[in-house]
Amino acid sequence: MKITTKINLLTTVWMLCILMIINFVVFFLFMKTTVNMEEKVLLQKAEDIIKGFDTNQSSSNIEPKLKDYLTDHTFIRIIQPKNKVVHEVTNDQLLSKKIKGKYTTTKQSQTRLISAENGEEEVLIVRLPIKHGNNESLEIGERLSGLETRKEILRGILGFCTILATVLSLLGGRWLANMVMRPISNMINTMEEIEKSGVPKKIVIQNKTRDELYTMASTFNRMIDRLQENLAKQAQFVSDASHELKTPLTIIKSYANLLRRQGLENQDIAEEAIHAIHTEATRIQKMTDTFLDLANLENENVLEINKINLVSLCESILKQLKEVYKREITLHFEENPITIYADELKIKQVIIILLDNAIKYSQENIEVFLDKKEKHAMIQIKDYGIGIPVDEIDNIFERFYRVDKARSRETGGSGLGLHIAKRIIKLHKGHLKINSKEGSGTKVELFLPIYNEQIQD
Ligand SMILES: Nc1ncnc2c1ncn2[C@@H]1O[C@H](COP(=O)(O)OP(=O)(O)OP(=O)(O)O)[C@@H](O)[C@H]1O
Ligand SMILES: [Mg+2]
Repeated sequence: MKITTKINLLTTVWMLCILMIINFVVFFLFMKTTVNMEEKVLLQKAEDIIKGFDTNQSSSNIEPKLKDYLTDHTFIRIIQPKNKVVHEVTNDQLLSKKIKGKYTTTKQSQTRLISAENGEEEVLIVRLPIKHGNNESLEIGERLSGLETRKEILRGILGFCTILATVLSLLGGRWLANMVMRPISNMINTMEEIEKSGVPKKIVIQNKTRDELYTMASTFNRMIDRLQENLAKQAQFVSDASHELKTPLTIIKSYANLLRRQGLENQDIAEEAIHAIHTEATRIQKMTDTFLDLANLENENVLEINKINLVSLCESILKQLKEVYKREITLHFEENPITIYADELKIKQVIIILLDNAIKYSQENIEVFLDKKEKHAMIQIKDYGIGIPVDEIDNIFERFYRVDKARSRETGGSGLGLHIAKRIIKLHKGHLKINSKEGSGTKVELFLPIYNEQIQD
């Protein structure tokens, strides 16, 4: 069953229940107040009769007097103890037959049902003692025929209103359910289209009321935005990566062809070819490792947070690099330890990426400064090399971006280092700043939060 039909039926059933209760209460209260009013009128009549009652009157005078008080379908009786009816006047023989006279010493009133000509009918009886008489009481009975008619009318009105309310509830419920469900149906249609075509698509939000459905639709749209962005990034990455791999592969192919044509006859050419093939193959291998790194960083839960001391970490990195590159790198710090909560391997990777750049793009001494600034630890890497043109600084974080492609080929870079570094820093909720002057050098500042929320929580 559709959710709209379900909502519609449930609300209608619930409304019917409420209406039934209300109908019952209205009917009951109406009956009660009407009978009370009739009872008051009848008691007043009984009191009036008693007031004008004279016990010394001869019985032949009493009955005509009582007759004056008769209204439609009534009887009036004077009753003595042991329920002995001494006087009775009536204009409804059936009524007087059905209701037996009853002597009373207290004020009484009651309603009774009798079977009349057209079904059952309610009868109101009031009894009052005649105080100044000789142990006599007055009894008046009256058919509540008017009440029966009013009951029928009220039943009709309530029934009609219930049917009308049910029809309106069904129609209104359908309209409301449709209105509420429209965005959901839109979403379902869009999802089905996405499933069929495989192309992410957004939902058209018509009603901009900031309700839960609007939030759901806009969350869905944001999700689609992200998906499209990721798909675009993926496509861009595949195209960039294949483009990057094309150059070394072309070089390998052309040297392999050269070797095939000339064989190993020419020793110099053979050596040059083997060297070039080896260099380019190493380059491809490095590049694929970097691609894997990048793919890993797409997953945001990759960090393995631990307490680390930046001073000892930098000391060990610098020791390794100095040995490999035979370059002068000096470390400056005023505080030891400088503790942060971070993924040690990833931070090490970032520092190596930055130092690798400083080594590649400068000849002179490289300086590393460690410090604390408010809630951040700072690593500053300073080189006195070729520098970066000001208008290129924003681009160097792009994937595969190199300022001078020809020169970078010589240095073996793929243009992914800073992009990876930035991603890692972002995962740590830190930031990178680069200051550079072409020809005089580059200063890279790396800020990392001292406390990491993931650890604190
Ligand atoms: N310290 C620096 N001095 C001068 N230029 C720099 C420096 N650091 C980065 N660059 C420029 O920014 C570009 C991008 O740097 P990035 O580290 O991303 O790539 P790469 O060093 O070319 O290659 P990879 O790091 O992937 O091996 C470099 O090609 C270079 O032109
Ligand atoms: Mg680099």
